[in-house]
Amino acid sequence: MALLEVSGVSKRFGGVQAVDGVGFRVEQGMVKAVIGPNGAGKTTLFNLVSGFFAPDRGEIRFAGDPIQGRRPYQVAQKGISRTFQNIKLFSGMTALENVMVGRHLRSRSGFVSGMLRLPWTRREEAEVREKSRELMAFLGVEQLADAEATSLAYGQQRAVELARALCSDPRMVLLDEPAAGLNMRETAELAKLILRIRDRGITVLLVEHDMSLVMGISDEVAVLSYGQKIADSDPRSVQRDPQVVKVYLGEEEC
Ligand SMILES: Nc1ncnc2c1ncn2[C@@H]1O[C@H](COP(=O)(O)OP(=O)(O)OP(=O)(O)O)[C@@H](O)[C@H]1O
Ligand SMILES: [Mg+2]
Repeated sequence: MALLEVSGVSKRFGGVQAVDGVGFRVEQGMVKAVIGPNGAGKTTLFNLVSGFFAPDRGEIRFAGDPIQGRRPYQVAQKGISRTFQNIKLFSGMTALENVMVGRHLRSRSGFVSGMLRLPWTRREEAEVREKSRELMAFLGVEQLADAEATSLAYGQQRAVELARALCSDPRMVLLDEPAAGLNMRETAELAKLILRIRDRGITVLLVEHDMSLVMGISDEVAVLSYGQKIADSDPRSVQRDPQVVKVYLGEEEC
């Protein structure tokens, strides 16, 4: 059984068929990438899996259980965590506090109570703080714990966001364009971080435009074009697929 199994999933916004009958599988322990031109439906697919939207049709199973149409906090409770295409860190909070908030994404009240820190006892808070420090160390950014989160460099903010996604002990993380805005050195660092996350036993599903990153770390790559899946295989086969080549060359001509 695949950890994540998406079958025949569709989502329309007004006149736009953003996702059109898409199915794919992600095996436990794998790094899988979803690529495709701008507007292909990649983020929408993530929003469907993570519960931000309900699909119009289709089924999404996680660890065997249907999760389509569940609320984001319910999906998070099942063990799926995510980062966003546009980094969402809270200003006026330290990097460490931003990571700690991740623990709360499993609760119904989510971000808001995380910011107010209402539901924590002192002991819980100490435990979450310790865990958050450990995750920042794991991602090599422990020295930034007390810095104001939004004042950090872009690559550092990405690492903080990753640590926050890991703070809820997910079985799978969805990363939406983690290399966006990073320079080559930061992207190479990110590749190592993603593989370390996988080595921790966490399955990774990744949307990314940076082909060297995608082809370097993915076990499988699915390709979307206009909401439809046009390829889904190992990186080498996908790179040689005539339909995929056509979609990307077409994009460059624009
Ligand atoms: N909340 C929304 N409301 C209306 N239309 C939307 C919404 N989200 C996405 N769309 C539309 O659905 C289509 C797919 O968008 P999506 O953001 O999923 O693409 P993407 O593959 O992530 O693109 P990019 O690489 O630019 O991030 C686009 O035409 C987009 O305008
Ligand atoms: Mg997107």
